[in-house]
Amino acid sequence: MPMVDLHLHLLPDVDDGCKTMDDTVAMARALVSLGFGTAAPSPHNRPEYASRDVALQRLDEVRAELARLGIPLALDVNSENFFLDESLLTKLPTPESRRVGAAGKYLLVEAPYTSPLPQLTDVIFRMKLKGVTPIIAHPERCLEFERKGRAAEAVQSGALLQLDIGALIGRYGKPAQKLAKQFLDDGLYAISATDLHSPVGAEQWVGESLKALQKQAGGQRFTALTETNPGLILKGLPVA
Ligand SMILES: [Fe+2]
Repeated sequence: MPMVDLHLHLLPDVDDGCKTMDDTVAMARALVSLGFGTAAPSPHNRPEYASRDVALQRLDEVRAELARLGIPLALDVNSENFFLDESLLTKLPTPESRRVGAAGKYLLVEAPYTSPLPQLTDVIFRMKLKGVTPIIAHPERCLEFERKGRAAEAVQSGALLQLDIGALIGRYGKPAQKLAKQFLDDGLYAISATDLHSPVGAEQWVGESLKALQKQAGGQRFTALTETNPGLILKGLPVA
């Protein structure tokens, strides 16, 4: 089964990811050659970047271009929401909480990189009460998760954690690499994703990262993180 990527900045000219359609096509080709068959591009949902409507329009344009070129990468709707706090709770009943896939049961969200998040478990709990499961993007790069036991608490509260695979090969520095390996060993990640922002060098570093993930997680867990669980999330089903 082809792999599924639920965190990447594939759409052109909507955020700090791909700048042009040429970038987008190059990134899509790299993903397909690495074994991906589905991607849910996740433009940043922040005031300084494109609106939901513009992002949806770009998604349609990219779908049409990939079809025209015969690139077999199915695309779904998604966003990287900003960020996991009280304000997100107020957005939940509105289209401004931009969910994963048509099922809309999951929401990809960033935690702050350099500030603490004492309300972490409370916000997760309140989101779950409203029927939405947060997928916390790259916790290995966020200050709050440097606190011992905090990642496990987030999972126990009902959140899913998403590994940025590049962390395993040191793309985000030693502390993030160390945390990523630890969370992986502890079985805390539900999915892995590329968080690709540019096609430059993508095939090489994503390929290396996938190898590192397979080596550390083992074949069965690798399949769950890269295929099964992201596929279930897109369908709005519980993860394995
Ligand atoms: Fe991202």
